[in-house]
Amino acid sequence: MRYKSQSIAYWYFALAMILFGLQLVFGLLSAAKYLGPDPLLNIMPFDVTKTIHTNLLIVWVLTGFMGATYWLVCDESRTELYSPRLAIIQLVVWALMGVSAIIGYFFRYGTGNKLLEQPLPHKIVIVIVMLMFLYNVGMTIKRSGRFTTTEGVLLLGLGSSAVLYLPALLHYENYIVSIYYRWWTIHLWVEGVWEMIQASFLAYLLIRLSGADREVMEKWLYVIVGLVFIAGILGTAHHYYWVGVPYYWLPIGGIFSALEPVALLAMAMYAYYAMRRSGLNHPNTLALHWTLGSAVFTLFGAGLLGLAHTFPAINKWTHGTMITAMHGHAAFYGAYAMIIMAMISYILPYFSSSREVKGTAVGYWAFWLQISGMFGMTLAFATAGIGQVYLERVLGIGYLDVQLKIQIHFLMLIACAILFAIGVGLFIYDFFRHAPQFDVGRKDPAEPLTSVRPVSHHAG
Ligand code: HEM
Ligand code: HEM
Ligand SMILES: [Fe+2]
Repeated sequence: MRYKSQSIAYWYFALAMILFGLQLVFGLLSAAKYLGPDPLLNIMPFDVTKTIHTNLLIVWVLTGFMGATYWLVCDESRTELYSPRLAIIQLVVWALMGVSAIIGYFFRYGTGNKLLEQPLPHKIVIVIVMLMFLYNVGMTIKRSGRFTTTEGVLLLGLGSSAVLYLPALLHYENYIVSIYYRWWTIHLWVEGVWEMIQASFLAYLLIRLSGADREVMEKWLYVIVGLVFIAGILGTAHHYYWVGVPYYWLPIGGIFSALEPVALLAMAMYAYYAMRRSGLNHPNTLALHWTLGSAVFTLFGAGLLGLAHTFPAINKWTHGTMITAMHGHAAFYGAYAMIIMAMISYILPYFSSSREVKGTAVGYWAFWLQISGMFGMTLAFATAGIGQVYLERVLGIGYLDVQLKIQIHFLMLIACAILFAIGVGLFIYDFFRHAPQFDVGRKDPAEPLTSVRPVSHHAG
């Protein structure tokens, strides 16, 4: 750790880890309800557990983004944070917002708008927290006078995420209008500006871990951002097919969203070539696993499995079925959960001298159990979804009858989810088992075997 205020990242990651664990508890509860009588029906029925599951996901991912950003900006701009105090206040307000929102969901206090269920007072707090965050990061960069392309893309992603949340603050009487604007937030987040956040973390990690040339890596960032913009914005229309808007959105949605995987393919190739060219000589091979893993899993979950149901001719059968859950899990996990775990794995050795830089057996078990568990869950959702589409939409059998016929797939889902949850449990254990030490100036623990460091100095 070179700057004292980088320690702030640790507390953000710690909160993210706790919320990640809780998210899985509510995921398992939601899945269990598919299997039969629900003893918890009157306390927390499916709609409540699912809302909590997905909201915890969004909150922990954003917490991870913020922590990783505070670390990255100090490193890239070579300076202390503008206001560590503000960052801590921000974390406390954010955590209180998250916890009270979750408690509220038990009492049906929320808007009911999928993924944007946060009640208005909470939404206002979210905006205030984002402003505190962007101000702190912006002032840090401004004061240092050093602004890299990686930071620029990251800030573009974070700033736009805040702006795109604004439509969610308004109330729409008309349901079609409400759905229409919901995607300005949800789709443009996950298939637009968050991809920029992911790409900038990826660039940061690849430059540090592979020693790849910064100028080349950052040039690629522009290409990725361009591709995301070209396809992602009009690709929003793949959510407009059946919501009651004019017909012309069908071809627009089909064509542009089908182009979205190009940016994801570029990201995966970018990671692969950076690693190959430089030789894998950084000692932190665990962080390398997560970094490459994120790029590859995103291509699979978002690129391939997104493409699988994005054309109107297919989506008319699969819309809102388990096929959506299949893609939603693999994509979210690969792109956002994994990139945060990559950042955490890279950063953690800086917080403790007793931690082995190359990762421990526990760390690798966490990695492999998670990706095999998530792959199995994806297959379980897929097989359930294919059965559901055929029986319910092709043969016209009733929803509940079909649910009984596809129940077996939920057994498979839960079995794989348990493997996955053990992997996450190990990651969380590995995170907390070394008490943090925030010594500035201690020899860089991740000093690579060959000279990688100089590359990170000729930034521009
Ligand atoms: C123990 C592991 C997990 C289990 C058992 C689980 C289970 C579930 C279930 C049963 C649903 C509801 C599906 C429906 O609407 O019928 C759901 C929704 C969802 N989960 Fe998970 N989940 C787990 C982990 C995760 C992880 C790690 C992520 C992301 C990184 C995630 C992201 C989502 C998303 C985005 C949805 C909403 C999907 C949609 O409505 O289309 N889940 N999950
Ligand atoms: C990292 C990137 C991505 C993430 C995290 C992601 C996540 C999700 C989630 C959570 C949903 C369910 C949303 C809801 O119903 O509220 C969804 C829906 C959808 N996604 Fe993605 N996605 C990503 C990329 C893509 C890409 C690249 C494509 C197309 C090539 C795509 C195609 C779709 C389609 C067509 C739906 C609608 C499914 C339906 O009709 O029910 N996604 N995505
Ligand atoms: Fe989308």
